[in-house]
Amino acid sequence: MCQNSARGSLVGMLKSLRVCKTIAEIRDVVKELRRSGPVALVPTMGYFHEGHLTLMREARRRFPSVVVSIFVNPLQFGPQEDFKTYPRNLERDLALARETGVAAVFAPEVEEMYPGSVLTCVDVERLSAVLCGCTRPGHFRGVATVVTKLFNIIRPDAAFFGQKDAQQLQVIRRLVRDLNFDIEIVAVPTVREPDGLAMSSRNVYLSPEERRAAVVLYRSLVAARERILAGESDLAAVEEQLAADIAAEPLAVLEYAAILALPDLTPPTDEDRELLLAVAARFGRARLIDNVTVWRE
Ligand code: PAF
Repeated sequence: MCQNSARGSLVGMLKSLRVCKTIAEIRDVVKELRRSGPVALVPTMGYFHEGHLTLMREARRRFPSVVVSIFVNPLQFGPQEDFKTYPRNLERDLALARETGVAAVFAPEVEEMYPGSVLTCVDVERLSAVLCGCTRPGHFRGVATVVTKLFNIIRPDAAFFGQKDAQQLQVIRRLVRDLNFDIEIVAVPTVREPDGLAMSSRNVYLSPEERRAAVVLYRSLVAARERILAGESDLAAVEEQLAADIAAEPLAVLEYAAILALPDLTPPTDEDRELLLAVAARFGRARLIDNVTVWRE
């Protein structure tokens, strides 16, 4: 869409960052931003790392105005999950968003997003029932509901999501299609540490030993992808080996290792060309997910 010139992006960076806590405020700001062209949204739960900043930079590169939402969404956390302890640092996030040239941040309190009890939810069936959906019941309903609300509040022309959350990406693509949102969904490749570990806000939970062990996820995924690219057609065997490679790491508690067809997240048939190799495992307190995709000729 809109390409920013070097001068354009410098001017954008020098503009002040608008921080909105209420729906009414962000709606007014977006109305104003829209006068200069299309608006992109980067939905986040904050505690920014390089993955978030890459989403913002990519959105900035393509759109004149970028809005970032920072909201730790209680609806997508199970009762035993880390909603209360999820890392937060709004001041630092705002400084990073400002540096990245974001026009506005929407950082509502829970009461602003969910005043009273929630009676209306968005369920993207089937796609929400596999992989993380099995161990995190209600998670994708929470994600789909908050993303729908953000889309209705901000009405962006495009929204940027990381490929690290591959299942979330498919759920959102499908909800946009099924609910006729006129929003382009842009997927941005996973940003990794030099040793391959996918960047995640939850990596802060890892002890130094767990941090070293966690690299097994990406290493095992790459090995599985290599086998498929080398012509292995027995995907059940590849899946089994992927699970065994991760389970062999003493600090890893494997949740799942699966190969599914994209975009429907169904068990692959010989006809399916694009495959998702996805894993989830716990390392101490941290539940980490990762994935790679492979295209079969
Ligand atoms: O990926 C995330 O950070 C969250 O699931 C999202 C999309 C911001 C919804 O809360």
